[in-house]
Amino acid sequence: MEDVIATGRSLKHVQIREYVRSLVSGGAPGSPAPSERELVQRFGVARMTVRQALDALVSEGLLERIPGRGTFVSRPRLAPSRITSFTEEMTRRGMLAESQTLLARREQAGPGVARALNLTEGDAVIHWRRLRRGDGTPVCLEDAYLNEVMLPGFLQQGMPTSLYDALAARSLRPTWAEDSVAADRVTPEEAALLEVGLDAVVLRHSRRALAGEAVVEVSRSVYRADRFTLWVQLGDPV
Ligand code: GLP
Repeated sequence: MEDVIATGRSLKHVQIREYVRSLVSGGAPGSPAPSERELVQRFGVARMTVRQALDALVSEGLLERIPGRGTFVSRPRLAPSRITSFTEEMTRRGMLAESQTLLARREQAGPGVARALNLTEGDAVIHWRRLRRGDGTPVCLEDAYLNEVMLPGFLQQGMPTSLYDALAARSLRPTWAEDSVAADRVTPEEAALLEVGLDAVVLRHSRRALAGEAVVEVSRSVYRADRFTLWVQLGDPV
């Protein structure tokens, strides 16, 4: 539409915009777009017209301006930071994730779990304890507590490979979470399961995960500090 009713000047900026698009489309991220000066010379137009054409491609996300350096083909935008599951954490490291269920049962929520899940003490929760391995080596021992009312039939359907995939299938994949991490000594029981010495150091990771306003999971994970480095993405990549 813009092209059809455009005045001479706006037609020119559309023409320049499409010329630049054809040059940079499919170009390597970070490669330079033609400079304003080059375009001014090539099309014999005012710098303002060229800037208008480039502005359009910048706001489309095809180009990015780096102050003091120029205009470049944008780096592809990654998906915004999302809450990762153990399976994804291992996959990201190029490792095969495996889990062994040590316990999966209905329990009555104790005071801490009830508070974190926004339940009343004694309400029904699902307690799922897993030993999680990466490439066959124990990486973490994980206790997840889930609100039973939100997950009818969960325990009867056979435990899934990935909790977060199972929650996603019910439109309950966590969209945000509160995590805390603290260093600690391993307990004898943990040491036996994680196959570490009694003097080993672990990372205690707690998570309260929500899907919108609903708390879907509270978990406590004990990671072997020699096998796991916490990786956190803050903000969205530009
Ligand atoms: C991480 C989180 C846990 C969560 C788990 C789900 O380890 N700290 O709170 O239960 O991921 O992992 P998966 O979807 O692989 O079962």
